[in-house]
Amino acid sequence: MWLQSAPNQALFRGSSSTFYPIRSPRLFSTGRLPSDTDQTEAEDAEGGDDGEFWDREVDDVSNLYETILAEIVDDGRVGIITINRPEVLNALSTQVMDELADVLQELDADPRVKAIILTGSGKKAFAAGADIKEMRDQEFVTAYLGRLLSGYERATSECRTPIIAAVNGYALGGGCELAMMCDIILAGENAVFGQPETNLGVIPGMGGTQRLIRAVGKSRAMEMILSGAHFIDAEEAVSRGLASRVITGGPEKLIEAAIDLAKQIARLSGPVVAMAKEAVNSANDLGLSEGVKKENLFFSACFGLYDQKEGMSAFLEKRKARFENR
Ligand code: CAA
Repeated sequence: MWLQSAPNQALFRGSSSTFYPIRSPRLFSTGRLPSDTDQTEAEDAEGGDDGEFWDREVDDVSNLYETILAEIVDDGRVGIITINRPEVLNALSTQVMDELADVLQELDADPRVKAIILTGSGKKAFAAGADIKEMRDQEFVTAYLGRLLSGYERATSECRTPIIAAVNGYALGGGCELAMMCDIILAGENAVFGQPETNLGVIPGMGGTQRLIRAVGKSRAMEMILSGAHFIDAEEAVSRGLASRVITGGPEKLIEAAIDLAKQIARLSGPVVAMAKEAVNSANDLGLSEGVKKENLFFSACFGLYDQKEGMSAFLEKRKARFENR
């Protein structure tokens, strides 16, 4: 995958960043990055050869996205997606959402990528909602039959790779809903979460009425959605469990923290992390006893993995585990 130029990366992340663009899939066609054949000490310490899934061949895919930036860091283990429409506060047009769905699928299918970060470009917004200009002239029939802003759930829910939302600035309407579709939210100190759709004569349309209530409770969710006001800041987001941590120090520190977290996840066994993610997400869809049954099935499945033997042996032998994703 190539080489999306990233015009405002410097603005966002500074020139000292260690980022490099997503590589051509041809480089992945053997399932091996150069660093695999020439394993570094750090990789040695973190894990050994990848397992079958992570070694498999991947299709050639294009990556000529216009509204998002995509890049890979940490020797291919961490994908970073940046919504890139800062002039409209990263408003989520259909094109953004289509491209986002495509790149998530692309990164999820990539044998190397073990964690994905989703963020917004510029200093003001993660995403200030669905694109109001694009939506204004929609009619019921076109919205309904055209499934306006529906179906994007699948892009995140079918993604087995953990997704971390790095929320810098406004996450409003569809932006808040998109952040909530991710697995973990890290909130920059200026993060603002809200569902202002009722001000526009509509209701939340990308899962907000369902996810916000689970994240912040009924009364607070109702207050926000019915009034279209009373936004949540970073501190409150953490205190209510909507976000996991506040990261101070500006956008660069936020991305650094997200990358650190992604790297921690990426050094673990891929299939184990994927099962853990699916089990936790089941809690929203299943009752307690069904959820616990599913968890137990996945727990048992772990004992079919090489990585379980390796992880437990490493602990008992007081050494670092070398996971092989199998
Ligand atoms: N769609 C399209 N354009 C948007 C936008 C959106 N959601 N949010 C901001 N913009 C545009 C503005 O129109 C403006 O463009 P121009 O420079 O061409 O005028 C530019 O981004 C900068 O915005 P502001 O000048 O308004 O910036 P501000 O700092 O004064 O205010 C803000 C920031 C409070 C976030 C304000 O922009 C705002 O209220 N935005 C809309 C938020 C909103 O209502 N989101 C919900 C959308 S509906 C939805 O998401 C449905 C759903 O559930 C899926």
